[in-house]
Amino acid sequence: MQIVSSIAAMQRHAKKWQRAGTRIGFVPTMGYLHAGHLSLVKRARQSVGKTGKVVVSIYVNPTQFAPTEDLAQYPRDLKRDLKLCREAGADAVFTPGDAEMYPNKAENGFSAYVVEEKLSQSMEGAARPVHFRGVTTVVAKLFNIVLPDVAVFGQKDFQQAAVIKRMVADLNFPVKIIVAPTLREPDGLAMSSRNKYLEGDLRLQATVLWHAIQKAQAVVKKSARPVPAEKLKAELKEFIQHKPAARADYVEFFDPDNLSPVAKVTRGSQLALAVFVGKTRLIDNAQL
Ligand code: PAJ
Repeated sequence: MQIVSSIAAMQRHAKKWQRAGTRIGFVPTMGYLHAGHLSLVKRARQSVGKTGKVVVSIYVNPTQFAPTEDLAQYPRDLKRDLKLCREAGADAVFTPGDAEMYPNKAENGFSAYVVEEKLSQSMEGAARPVHFRGVTTVVAKLFNIVLPDVAVFGQKDFQQAAVIKRMVADLNFPVKIIVAPTLREPDGLAMSSRNKYLEGDLRLQATVLWHAIQKAQAVVKKSARPVPAEKLKAELKEFIQHKPAARADYVEFFDPDNLSPVAKVTRGSQLALAVFVGKTRLIDNAQL
């Protein structure tokens, strides 16, 4: 497995593979890898086959964090990540530094951003104003560096995947986007690098996101008629607030195809939620 930290070297590898007709599969991550990330690596391998190349990027992207967020604390363990990538069968890991990705930032030397203006406005975009601009910018940069034929994203970040698909379609990136299912802990908590923040009893309370999803699933299944979204939202928020350390940031019901909010919740509606458990902000979503 190659470990590449310079952009020029990564592009050289990618161009060489491209010239040889080798398919490139790509999994962008911020590291501190878990089984959810590794399932994307396996999905990328499935897509490009034995003869293809699978590249994982590990980069905690500063432009998608607001100054008040957890950039400095974000968990990092490159040594362990590299071992996991090797075991999962990656061919290369791209691990650039900040100076490489955002040169002369202090001198205001970086000023071109990629912005999606519709799907990125609600939910995570409303709660985290600079977030998606940072995500689309870094993913566009990574696509230009890794030159993938296919890139795999997780359903765990449903809105992120939708925004990336839109960016790829609108800007004609020659990349196929695959969205892979969310991997969960045995008690239903969606795997996330941020779960490391959950100490003691908070880890238990964090299952409230999954339990809220299951509650919504049950309501929709039981109800013969569409359920008013506002009513179900209020019920779920109340249910979440029952956990002493939990506070709902948002609960949204929307159409999974265009992310428009729905007034009536039915089978097929998408539910997404963001919940603070202590100081840790967790997100999850599911189709009902
Ligand atoms: P990160 O949070 O590290 O996630 C990397 C990829 O793993 C994303 O596509 C995410 O949706 C997926 N993922 C996370 N948890 C998962 C789980 N439990 N099951 C399946 N897939 C899961 O998302 C980012 O990094 C960044 O925003 C990035 C796209 C790398 C841009 O910086």
